[in-house]
Amino acid sequence: MQNNTFSRLFVGQNVVTLKQVDSTNNFLKNELAKSTPLCEGTVILAEEQFAGRGQANNTWYSEPGKNLTFSLLLSPAFLNPEKQFLLNKSLSIAINDTLTTIIGNKAKIKWPNDIYYDNDKLGGVLIENILRGNSIKYSIIGIGLNINQTQFRSDIKNVTSLKKILHRDYDIKDVLYQLCSSIEQRYLQLRAGSAELIDRDYLKGLYKLNENHRFRIGGKEREGVIKGISENGSLEVLIDGELRRYGFKEIVFV
Ligand code: BTN
Repeated sequence: MQNNTFSRLFVGQNVVTLKQVDSTNNFLKNELAKSTPLCEGTVILAEEQFAGRGQANNTWYSEPGKNLTFSLLLSPAFLNPEKQFLLNKSLSIAINDTLTTIIGNKAKIKWPNDIYYDNDKLGGVLIENILRGNSIKYSIIGIGLNINQTQFRSDIKNVTSLKKILHRDYDIKDVLYQLCSSIEQRYLQLRAGSAELIDRDYLKGLYKLNENHRFRIGGKEREGVIKGISENGSLEVLIDGELRRYGFKEIVFV
């Protein structure tokens, strides 16, 4: 893998590796409460998380030593909190950029932040923003990506890993460094105000864009077509000829 062909200025310059931790997001949050602040771009990497957290209060399970589980510290004070979904988009695109070089264009972003290969989940992102006044003081970007795990809990469906896809082992740190480079490139675009580019590339990588799909909405199954994302990050779905917007907890892919 070509981690040395990418330049990195700050993302991943400082990598702290922990053998075991409850959750790298929790660890980073606790560090921020201490008197010496960590520098932007610091990565907390865990070999094992015993209480890994996913979106919507889910648990993130990952076999120790097999996958990437890390949290990255960013300070996007330049970003209006009302536009914080642009940060989610930048991160998702960055992960997709790296994965496309490894597994090709079947790597997709499932709204809002899931990382998919075909119809299986390869990874996810949990972003926790700490606001101070009207700006984002810190953003804790937790990323879980399945790399070399091939056996998953039987109750977890539609899940995959790089090894399951390509039938070979990957060096976890190589993937981490490639991700850090992609994240830095996309973060710099965000900081430079390239919102249109980020919107365009997020849509380019979006799972099921412009395809018929079934969703569960308010307890009922409906057929619809994803048409885009609104500025606040809601999913825009065309249902019965009407464009409707849904927040994260209001719509489930069936
Ligand atoms: C999701 O898809 O639900 C998001 C999963 C995020 C998991 C990562 S693993 C590293 C970081 N620490 C955590 O506790 N969660 C995130």
